[in-house]
Amino acid sequence: MEGLQLKTIQEIRKEIDHCDEILIQAFEKRMELVLQVLEYKTKEGMPILDSSREEEIIAHGLRSVKNRDFSKEIEDFIKSILNISRKMQSIRLFPYNIILIGFMGTGKSAIGDRLSQLLRMECIDTDVLIERQMKTSIAKMFEEHGEKYFREAEKDMVKRVSYRKNTIISCGGGVVLHPDNVKQLKDNGKIVLLSAHPEIIYERVKEDQNLPVLKGNMSIEFIQKKMEERKDKYESAADIIVDTSNKDKEEICQEIVYKLLKNGK
Ligand code: S3P
Repeated sequence: MEGLQLKTIQEIRKEIDHCDEILIQAFEKRMELVLQVLEYKTKEGMPILDSSREEEIIAHGLRSVKNRDFSKEIEDFIKSILNISRKMQSIRLFPYNIILIGFMGTGKSAIGDRLSQLLRMECIDTDVLIERQMKTSIAKMFEEHGEKYFREAEKDMVKRVSYRKNTIISCGGGVVLHPDNVKQLKDNGKIVLLSAHPEIIYERVKEDQNLPVLKGNMSIEFIQKKMEERKDKYESAADIIVDTSNKDKEEICQEIVYKLLKNGK
């Protein structure tokens, strides 16, 4: 049939290459603009993390889809772009590890996870890694081999993870007890001390069976006493301090980012 000649695969591929060129050009431009936004926000002291803006971008992208058959793919595409952009911003803002320390129940794991979602930075937890490596729980390690054994395992783990870059490292509450740990963590990272009132900590940890340091002593008074004992070590290790009492995760993450940036490198 005249005029309805089938395209050859070479021709189709050529068109795909052309589309990629257009995408790459637009993407490069977008990255430049994202960095401009970052510079602007930093200069003006505006909040860096803005989840509502991301939702707006996705909605805007979906509104401009012409072929609805591709809506799902377009949504995935926009989300990947947002991930890459956020990651690029994070690497520039935090070219170091963000180390979370603090007493049990101050929110290190929960905040580590949320911060990791918001900054698209990997988050690791030394306690989880120790349990995985030793194939047992921390409670069992204390019970069967004593605290000293656990502290040695913790020291080894800290040594290993300190070499990482651009990672959020959530540490066990007793990590500051060994000065070598703090020294090592500081080599590639900034230390964020999370704090909370003993009453709030008690409410958060009272049912936790995997906290051998509090075993048989689960009370506000004991928590207060232990916190007092460690206070100087926590505070001298910290680059910044964030109180997590009566704040939601978003507020805490915003405060960490704000204080880290203010603290400078
Ligand atoms: C400890 C805190 C725990 C865990 C171990 C010892 C401590 O971590 O490392 O039970 O001495 O404060 P979390 O603070 O993450 O619970």
